[in-house]
Amino acid sequence: MPAQFPQARLRRLRSSDALRSIVRETSLKAEHLVYPIFVEEDTDEYTPIEGMPGQRRIPESKLGEEAKRLSALGLKSIMPFGISHHKDETGSDALKEDGMVARMVRIIKQAAPELVVIPDICFCEYTSHGHCGILKGNTVDNDLTIKNLGIQAVQAAKAGADIIAPSSAQDGQVAAIREALDEAGFTDIPIMAYSTKLASALYGPFREAAGTELKGDRKTYQMDPMNRREALRESLADEAEGADFLMVKPALAYLDIMADIRRNSLLPLVAYQVSGEYAMIKFAAAQGVIDESAVVRETLGSMRRAGADLIMTYFAPQLLEEGL
Ligand code: PBG
Ligand code: ZN
Repeated sequence: MPAQFPQARLRRLRSSDALRSIVRETSLKAEHLVYPIFVEEDTDEYTPIEGMPGQRRIPESKLGEEAKRLSALGLKSIMPFGISHHKDETGSDALKEDGMVARMVRIIKQAAPELVVIPDICFCEYTSHGHCGILKGNTVDNDLTIKNLGIQAVQAAKAGADIIAPSSAQDGQVAAIREALDEAGFTDIPIMAYSTKLASALYGPFREAAGTELKGDRKTYQMDPMNRREALRESLADEAEGADFLMVKPALAYLDIMADIRRNSLLPLVAYQVSGEYAMIKFAAAQGVIDESAVVRETLGSMRRAGADLIMTYFAPQLLEEGL
């Protein structure tokens, strides 16, 4: 029997900062953060993103300096998203050796080789219809799309990507990418699968930021947010296909799923604090109703506590500036 009050007093371990710090179970360090950035081609201007105060689109011509600045701040990992002005029906730009995905990777690796570069591998930023792959009728053709994801992944790897992160939410995408990478000789490049990706209403500000053309939704390929068992099944399927990291996206509304995956897999687990989560904190703080820094730390802490090793967050540079 554990001791009970009055022998046991839980307050005994809370009496000072120092005492609290030595019994703290969860930490947040620079190593845990991945910063997703938006990079725009064919412009020299930074463009503020209205729905994501503090974030802006970085012109491709300034990407090298940005990468150096972020690395000097202490950032370890970065995930570039492209804002393309060369969209077409299939998203063919993303398949090219000199397309945006490959160029962003090359520029970052050249400017700051110490940064772990994790390109998002998908088609929604490169298709004229904004869907995450090749359209057939009014949905994405799974099997044609995963072939193209393999080609895009190989281009990113050739450009120097450290990790490949497919976010298209197609069945078999991890296996298809693993096979394509292996055939091209990239047997040592890991795959960070967006393994449990929900059809969430929290992606709104991202879609504005990335300039996606999507009308409608992605409910035929992204998962129903109401399903907990299926969420675990999604991640375990990706693990079986050879994923090296698993992910839950969005993060805060899905901590139950994160904890489930943590208990059922030994892989490193990633939480993606998405644009809507960022916006909720930013706008509430701007109204003076919450303490921004404290809420950021508390929410990211909850993801770490639920089992996330890494967290993708737009707050990464701000946290590094404030100090962790
Ligand atoms: C799609 C993709 C999405 C995000 C990143 N890549 C979601 C979507 O548009 O369905 C969202 C990230 C965010 O909201 O921060 N491949
Ligand atoms: Zn997509």
